[in-house]
This record gives sequence, C-alpha cells and structure tokens, in this order.
Amino acid sequence: MTLPTLETERLTLRALNLEDAAALHRLVSAYEIALNTLAIPHPYPEGAAADWIASNVQKFEEGKMVNLGIFLREDGALAGAIGLTIHREHDRGELGYWIGVPYWNRGYATEAAAALIDYGFRELGLHRIEAEHFTRNPGSGRVMQKVGMTFEGRFRESVRKWDELVDVDHYAILRSDWMAARG
Ligand SMILES: CC(C)(COP(=O)(O)OP(=O)(O)OC[C@H]1O[C@@H](n2cnc3c(N)ncnc32)[C@H](O)[C@@H]1OP(=O)(O)O)[C@@H](O)C(=O)NCCC(=O)NCCS
Repeated sequence: MTLPTLETERLTLRALNLEDAAALHRLVSAYEIALNTLAIPHPYPEGAAADWIASNVQKFEEGKMVNLGIFLREDGALAGAIGLTIHREHDRGELGYWIGVPYWNRGYATEAAAALIDYGFRELGLHRIEAEHFTRNPGSGRVMQKVGMTFEGRFRESVRKWDELVDVDHYAILRSDWMAARG
C-alpha cells in the first residue's frame, strides 16, 4: 500500500521521501510554523524531518494517517505539508497543515486542504473531517472557512503551547455537506 498522489491546479500532494528531508527541515524549522502548531518543536531537531518522513509510510499502512508533502507543480519546490489522522472506529478524520512562510497567502493551504478532504470522503470513506486552530491564528480559520467547514465552537484555554494555555477554535465538515457542495 502506497501513499496517494493528489493533483490540484497548482499543487502536487505526494509522499515525502528522504531526498525531501533537507527542504522540509528548512521550512518547518521557522519559528512562525512552530508558534501556531501543537506538535512541531522549535528549534526543530536535526534528523527529525527524516524520522517523520520515514514514519509516514508506516502510519499509512496501519490506516492511521495520510501525511503528504505539498509541492508546487510549476517547479517541484516543497511548499508545506498536510495530513489527515484517521479514527476508523468513528469514520472521522482530523486535518492538519502548514505552509512554509515564503509561500503564505497564495491560497496553497486552501487548495491542498480541499484536495485532501475530497480524498478523505471519496477514497477513505470518512463521514466527518475536523480541524482546529489556535484562536490567535485566524488565517488558519480562514482556510477552514474557505473549504466549507463549519465553526463548531471555541475551547477556552484548552491546550498548552509552550508556557501559555491558548484558546482553540474547532471546525468540521460532514461528507453530506461536501458532496452536496461539490457533487
Ligand atoms: C495558516 C496557514 C496554513 C495558511 O496557509 P496559506 O497557504 O497562507 O493559506 P491560504 O492562502 O490558503 O489562505 C489564508 C487566508 O487567511 C487570510 N489571513 C492571513 N492572515 C490573516 C490574519 N492575520 N487574520 C485573518 N485572516 C488572515 C488570508 O487573507 C487568506 O484568506 P483570503 O483568501 O480570504 O484572503 C499558514 O499561514 C501556516 O502554515 N501557518 C503556520 C502553521 C499553522 O498555523 N498551521 C495551521 C495550524 S491549525
């Protein structure tokens, strides 16, 4: 079983391989990426990119996660990463993503999220896909709104990020919403 490759107008979403580790490390080690994600450390440890890439194949084979690199079709450059965590017992997925700082505000996160949501509903047979963002990071909430997710609530001071308990906004979309909107 191999991770899927998804093509959009401007992007290719595909499995990362070890040759991508240096580019991944360069982008993901920016402070701005760690600041608004829960699990990405800063400074980003040497070797962590290669370890993460290697773990993606196993997690996919176990049916637990679909993690893909986001590459620009025009020149093949790595622009970010996106993933779905799969909770098969509930047919539910959790979407997460980041885009490298040089590539912000070009619509790439929205384009990639739409492609992975579509894959989650059509190919993985999921029923519901959720996403959450720190309330202080409204750009990510905007991505969720642009792909048609519904705001379901704010969890106040719900997670600890470094030395601070931060508010988290929750969004979701059901398969029926997605299919009704996209056909
Ligand atoms: C959040 C993130 C993924 C957005 O990626 P992106 O490719 O720039 O997103 P898009 O271009 O598709 O959409 C961004 C939208 O947010 C808007 N936006 C950006 N900064 C904003 C802000 N401070 N307040 C409100 N909206 C903002 C943009 O205007 C755009 O909306 P529009 O198309 O209606 O104008 C990217 O900034 C990132 O990786 N940040 C760090 C990691 C992170 O936050 N990951 C998500 C964790 S939940």
